[in-house]
Amino acid sequence: YYLGWAGPARRAYSSGVALQLPQGYARAGEVVVCGMGGSGAAGDYLAALSARYGGLPVYVVKSAEPPAWVRGSLVYAVSFSGNTRETLSCASRAYRLGGLVVAVTTGGRLASWARSVGAPVALVEEAPAPRAGWPQLFYTLLGSLKAAGLIQVPESHVEESLQLLGERERAEAEAGELVAWLRESRGRLAVLAPEPYYPVAVRAVSELAENAKTSAVAMQVPEAGHNLLEALARDGDSRLLLIDPGEEPWSTLLHEFAGLARPASIHVARLQGGSPLSRMVWGTWLAGLASVRLALEEGLEPEPVKTIKAFRRVVE
Ligand code: PA5
Repeated sequence: YYLGWAGPARRAYSSGVALQLPQGYARAGEVVVCGMGGSGAAGDYLAALSARYGGLPVYVVKSAEPPAWVRGSLVYAVSFSGNTRETLSCASRAYRLGGLVVAVTTGGRLASWARSVGAPVALVEEAPAPRAGWPQLFYTLLGSLKAAGLIQVPESHVEESLQLLGERERAEAEAGELVAWLRESRGRLAVLAPEPYYPVAVRAVSELAENAKTSAVAMQVPEAGHNLLEALARDGDSRLLLIDPGEEPWSTLLHEFAGLARPASIHVARLQGGSPLSRMVWGTWLAGLASVRLALEEGLEPEPVKTIKAFRRVVE
């Protein structure tokens, strides 16, 4: 499924662009994205992209609590299943406080609730798991924000990112190298990215956790150079996966950090693509592919997440 991301990504972008937002939504002063796990991740990317390219500030909520200032904000309630308790509560509270809510989902209770209050619903295509549906969720939001003139990502960058998802052989080869490194090197795994690419590190850690049942931490530079570096340098047994955008000053900073951290082993994932958007999409794709392949090579099933299901029952 991950190998075929180009198709759902392109369809989702078109449907996001075509989504008719009610009059007044485009006058919002900020964007709020409510969502958990693979669904909330879409918000992290939009926040980073809007900071990079320009557009409305994007605030991401990963709980049931919308911000107190939500009145008049454009609120995307994103839940792949449509049945995640925190997202349902965030959406309905935001609505009651005067937020301009849009539901982004495959259906479930979120779609029913949104229809009952007259909020727009962007229906996304099914996928084997919410996290595998990242292109559906991310590109729907991107298309919708672009069509409303609320994010300044150039169309050529969107198109390039969609084209890049057609480079299956290259992606598979790079994912294979990453998996070989993950299997061979032992120690504590940390995924490190420069600040504008931090959502990619966070996504990689989540994909490894859910699909490959492997734990890792996400770190960002320069921030980690002001705290975690001290412990890494003392431990000397970490494995560092560097998310390298090949972009200055970020690449130099990343490698300087890695040198001072003195890890037991380093793997550099050099991001392909001619724009920040494409590079983020490439890193996300690579992480997803590698997590599934790692699971399969280790005899694990990527799709079931039984402990997450148990937690979801606690929240219900
Ligand atoms: O990818 C996953 O399976 C999870 O991270 C889910 O996205 C998370 O549990 C939230 O569920 P949903 O995306 O259906 O709202």
